[in-house]
Amino acid sequence: MSATLLDGRALSKKLNKALKYTVADWPRPPGLSVILVGADPASEVYVRRKGIVAGRIGLAHHQIDLPVDVGQEELLWNIDQLNADDSVDGILVQLPLPKGLDADAVMARIAPEKDVDGFTATSAGKLAQGQPHLVPCTPKGVMELLADAGVELSGKTAVVVGRSNIVGRPMAQLLEQANCTVTVCHSRTQNVAEHVGRADIVVAAVGRPHFVKGAWIKPGAIVIDVGINRLEDGSLVGDVETDAAAERAAAITPVPGGVGPMTIAMLMANTAAAAKSRLGLD
Ligand code: GUN
Repeated sequence: MSATLLDGRALSKKLNKALKYTVADWPRPPGLSVILVGADPASEVYVRRKGIVAGRIGLAHHQIDLPVDVGQEELLWNIDQLNADDSVDGILVQLPLPKGLDADAVMARIAPEKDVDGFTATSAGKLAQGQPHLVPCTPKGVMELLADAGVELSGKTAVVVGRSNIVGRPMAQLLEQANCTVTVCHSRTQNVAEHVGRADIVVAAVGRPHFVKGAWIKPGAIVIDVGINRLEDGSLVGDVETDAAAERAAAITPVPGGVGPMTIAMLMANTAAAAKSRLGLD
């Protein structure tokens, strides 16, 4: 392997530690409330990790577990309670929601100033217009990783594979705002390999194991793998053929230990930013 590994675990630890000291003398700790509906094993793991990191930093963390058959109105009622609670700065509803619940309506109910996931239409609109407040955690974490690695973005060609509201779309916007020339590939894109092969920066966010082949990567490219896919043998792999891609890339994120911990660190940073603003410390 010739590529440098972009160590999200190490960077996230550094950022979390700095945040711990930043919030230590605030009038009250930033408050994060997480709603988990049902018992999806992957969601349970993610939510538990968020709680552990929040505790380490000294955030006031609170989890609400709702049954898989909770009604839309009861879920919205819970969000209303959190919107009205002054000690809560950030509200996160873990996705995906069980069938039958309307995730768009749920997101729309979250007060924009507490939208630490950056998923509301208000947050998305602000980001699209280049005046971001609370930016979705995964793309924000990718930008931090690139900055920490000293990757020059201006004038570069970036290809984002995936166009979800959670990752692909905001990722493309952030890269474009950093003066990259951005192409977004999606399920109807013809010849994804050709697009990826032109990219100085590749971000894979499709949720399909090893979708991006190592042979597609332009020599010297920076490869960011957002995917976390569990194979039948229990192992975790990304959306990129990491080993093969690392033979050609200048730098690549491992899975696990790349983007994942950065997403959590950015959730903490967003919660602190929301608290700072709500406490008038800006
Ligand atoms: N499910 C997968 N990623 C995320 C995330 O970043 N936030 C929420 N709320 N749900 C998710």
